[in-house]
Amino acid sequence: MKDITRVKCSLSTDVEKLLNQQIKKEAQSASAYLAMAAWCSQHGYDFSSDYFFKQSDEERQHQLKLYKYVLDLGGSAISPEITNIKIEYNSFREVFEEALEQEISVTQSLKNIAANCYKEQDFVTVEFLNWFFKEQREEEYKARRALELFEVIGEEGTGRWQIDKHVGTITYTAE
Ligand SMILES: [Fe+2]
Ligand SMILES: [Fe+2]
Repeated sequence: MKDITRVKCSLSTDVEKLLNQQIKKEAQSASAYLAMAAWCSQHGYDFSSDYFFKQSDEERQHQLKLYKYVLDLGGSAISPEITNIKIEYNSFREVFEEALEQEISVTQSLKNIAANCYKEQDFVTVEFLNWFFKEQREEEYKARRALELFEVIGEEGTGRWQIDKHVGTITYTAE
């Protein structure tokens, strides 16, 4: 008997699984950024708090974009369960270190999906993922710029206050 479910779905089982893992990763990022926004707000870093609120919102959009893609191609999109979100940080700087690490790990996992897609000649998903690669260029840029402020400005005196203010001004222009 034919596997009707697979005929209806244009994604391979592997790619579908990887995309669902990515959906979870984006949701984890959204929650982690929300926790960072709270920590910054509670410690008086208002601009950084706003910055992380915005980042959280973007991750949620990424999650939905992937979610919809899986459904549009006839796959099963799984609403992820998110647990163990870190809510305590040792320092203002640590928040930004973790934000950059998170973005780098997201880029790596997207590369892994694309590598699998090339292997299977799933060029439709490759094309879809290209939007995410472009987005990651911006996300990593912003996270690096934020962290660099700790070196450029320094944390002494009113340094952290200055850093916070500058986080609010970070923009990325690709072209
Ligand atoms: Fe993302
Ligand atoms: Fe991101």
